[in-house]
Amino acid sequence: MAHQFEAGSRRADAEVGLDTLPKERVETLRWADDHLEMIDQRILPSQFCYLAYRNAKAVAEGIRLMVVRGAPAIGCAAAYGVALEALALKHSEAIAFNTGLENAFDVLAESRPTAVNLFWALNRMKECWAAHQTKQPSEVAHILLSEAHAIFVEDIAANKALGAHGAGLLHDGDRILTHCNAGALATAGHGTALGVFRSAIAMGKKIEVIADETRPFLQGARLTAWEMVQEGIPTTLIADGMAGHLMATGAIDAVVVGTDRVARNGDVANKIGTYMVAVLAHRHDIPFYVACPLSTIDMSIPNGAAIPIEERAASEVLGYAGIQWAAQGVRVRNPAFDITPAELVTALITEKGVLENPSEHGLLMLTGHSE
Ligand code: MRU
Repeated sequence: MAHQFEAGSRRADAEVGLDTLPKERVETLRWADDHLEMIDQRILPSQFCYLAYRNAKAVAEGIRLMVVRGAPAIGCAAAYGVALEALALKHSEAIAFNTGLENAFDVLAESRPTAVNLFWALNRMKECWAAHQTKQPSEVAHILLSEAHAIFVEDIAANKALGAHGAGLLHDGDRILTHCNAGALATAGHGTALGVFRSAIAMGKKIEVIADETRPFLQGARLTAWEMVQEGIPTTLIADGMAGHLMATGAIDAVVVGTDRVARNGDVANKIGTYMVAVLAHRHDIPFYVACPLSTIDMSIPNGAAIPIEERAASEVLGYAGIQWAAQGVRVRNPAFDITPAELVTALITEKGVLENPSEHGLLMLTGHSE
C-alpha cells in the first residue's frame, strides 16, 4: 500500500513502520519498507498527514520547505536521503552509482545551512560509504540504509538520556518557558527540550510548560502546543513579546530550549528570538538551559559569529499559509536563527550529562576532542 505514493505525495496516516525500529508516540519520520515517510509539519496541527520520499532530491526539498525541521530530524532525514539514492541506484555500474551518490550528498548539504546535524549526518554517511567503497553498489546501498537506521535509533536514545539528565534540574511546580519546537517533531523521537519535560513528568514531577508562539513560522503555537496537548502536559501558549512580562512578574521559573549548533566556545544558535529570551532570563536571574545531543556540537567552529544564519523568504514574515497581513511593498528581514552567547547559558544538557557554564574547555572534556 505504501509503495504507491510518489515523492512528496500526500496520503492519510496508516501504520507502515519497520518492526525493528522503535515506535515513538510521534513518528516524525519513519521507514516504510522501501521509502521514507515524514509528517508534513507545515500544515500541523490543522491537518495530519505523511508525505512519501524516494530520492535525495525530494528529501532535500522536504528539508528546505520545512516539511521536516528541527536539527536532529533534519540530520535523520538527510541520512535517509542518501540511503534512498543509493537504493535507487543499486543496480547501476559503480561509476554511475558513485556519481549519483556524490550528487545526493551535494544536494542534501545545500538544503539548509544552520543545523550542524545535517552535516554531521552526511559526514557519517560518507565515512560509512568510504569504509565499504570496494563492495558492490547493492551491498553498499543496504549498508547505508542500516547506517541511516542507526543514526535514527541513536538519536532517540540520546534524547531519552539527555531528557533524564535535564529532568534532574527541574523542580516540582516549575513553570518552564520554551521557544520554538525542540520536541519529538524536531528529532527522531522524544525531543530535546520537550524530551526534558517528558522525562520530568515520567519521573513524577509536576511541571507546567509555557510555549512561545515563535514567529514567524509558529513552531511553538503549531507544533510544541500540539505535542504537549496530545500528551496532556499542562501548557500555556504566549505570543513571543509576552515572555519579559511573565518573567518580571514571577511566572517563569526556568527556560529550556533546543539548539541547531553549539560552537566550540559554547555559543548557541537557535530559532530566532532565543537570544531575547536568554537576555531576559539573565536579567531576571532565571536559569537558561540548552538541551541537545552531542551531534549538535560543532567543535570545528570557533564561536557563534562563524555559524551560518539562514535567511528565509519574506513571505514567512508577511503572513502565513498564503495569507498576507502585512502592508504590500514593505521591506522584510527574515533571519531564521540567532546566537546566544555562552555567558548567557546556565548549562548545556546532553546525553553525557549536564555541562554548567559551557566553555571551550568544558566542551572539549564533554566531547572527548583533543585541543
Ligand atoms: O527552523 P526550524 O524549525 O528547523 O528550527 C528548529 C529549532 O530552532 C530548534 O529549536 C532546534 O533545531 C533544536 S530541535 C531539537
